Amino acid sequence: MRRLMVTGGAGFIGSNFVRYMLEKYPDDFIVVYDKLTYAGRLENLQDVAERFGDRYAFVRGDICDAERVEATLRRFDVDTIVNFAAETHVDRSLMEPGSFIQTDVYGTYVLLEATKKLGLERYHQVSTDEVYGQVLEGRSVESDPLQPRSPYSASKAGGDLMVLAYHESWGLPVTISRGSNNVGPYQYPEKVVPLFATNAIDDLPLPLYGDGMQKRDYQYVLDHCEGIDVVLHRGEIGEIYNIGTGSELTNLEMTRIVLRTLGKPESLIKHVEDRPGHDRRYALDVSKLKALGWESRHTCEEAIEKTVRWYAENEWWWRPIKSGDLYREYYRQQYGKRLAE
Ligand code: NAD
Ligand code: TYD
Repeated sequence: MRRLMVTGGAGFIGSNFVRYMLEKYPDDFIVVYDKLTYAGRLENLQDVAERFGDRYAFVRGDICDAERVEATLRRFDVDTIVNFAAETHVDRSLMEPGSFIQTDVYGTYVLLEATKKLGLERYHQVSTDEVYGQVLEGRSVESDPLQPRSPYSASKAGGDLMVLAYHESWGLPVTISRGSNNVGPYQYPEKVVPLFATNAIDDLPLPLYGDGMQKRDYQYVLDHCEGIDVVLHRGEIGEIYNIGTGSELTNLEMTRIVLRTLGKPESLIKHVEDRPGHDRRYALDVSKLKALGWESRHTCEEAIEKTVRWYAENEWWWRPIKSGDLYREYYRQQYGKRLAE
């Protein structure tokens, strides 16, 4: 029985994790603590609030706000923090890195301080394969050096190093998981799979960066959530665990799966100017987590197909986002010139 504070729980992976945990552990209590940035949405948790009312609470707050973090931990008698809160989109980190450093590095520090002050039982940091940097050959293992190459991945690496520093310096009971690219329900349509699926549904072009030969390990979000659950229950304190399928697709292969699932033509693919500093490949060795009994349940292809079907069946969720001023302005900045060329 646990009392968790899930920071960033109104975002994509966080909301899937909260639903998964409340379903699986009938005695757990979860308070979601989330700033509700453009990526955090209460709609993602609508059914959770209805189904698990007495075991679930929501607090709007910034992880950089130490007073509010501490007050929330005390009010709900929390014993475990699982930190998903972050600025997460590489392209946005290239437009405006400041908020990434603020939330992903400073915010992590605030949560660690609170963990130390209140003597919590566990702090889990949700991190990413991107902290290893691009891996042209072989697979990243947890002891590899960190060589992040974008403001996003550099900020996440800073967060990871701070978590490890608090473990070394004060014995904080921490764990870290590093996940590969997630796909699934409620992912904001700036990330490639939901962007391409929703564009294709509307017969709009799919802006594929560069040659489309970059490789990513696309995992289903609930496989990732299950991995985090295994780390929380069976992981060793002070340890890092990679989570992914252990295989990969090129972006062009991923795009073809999206189009095939929707029955749309490949003529929608438009090669556009590449992302600056675009990492060519990420690849994880996931044997350390497998040794704890975890197994990925979907291949990259199955994960993408299932995700695309969800977007086709849940226009209520993404249409209001894509037609909003905020999104349209982002799309114009990010793709206007690229698609016009
Ligand atoms: P997301 O962008 O969908 O959600 C992020 C959430 O954090 C939002 O609800 C947002 O409101 C909240 N948030 C942002 N800044 C905050 C702040 N200062 N205080 C409180 N809340 C704040 O992100 P996601 O894709 O669900 O990713 C969740 C975590 O998993 C991140 O830490 C990310 O680095 C990591 N991760 C993501 C992927 C992926 O493929 N999406 C892969 C591996 C790891
Ligand atoms: P993304 O979903 O942004 O995740 P990440 O950069 O964190 O891996 O992008 C996944 C891959 O898709 C990445 O190689 C960049 C590429 N991509 C495009 O080709 N076009 C796009 O419009 C976007 C958003 C991404």
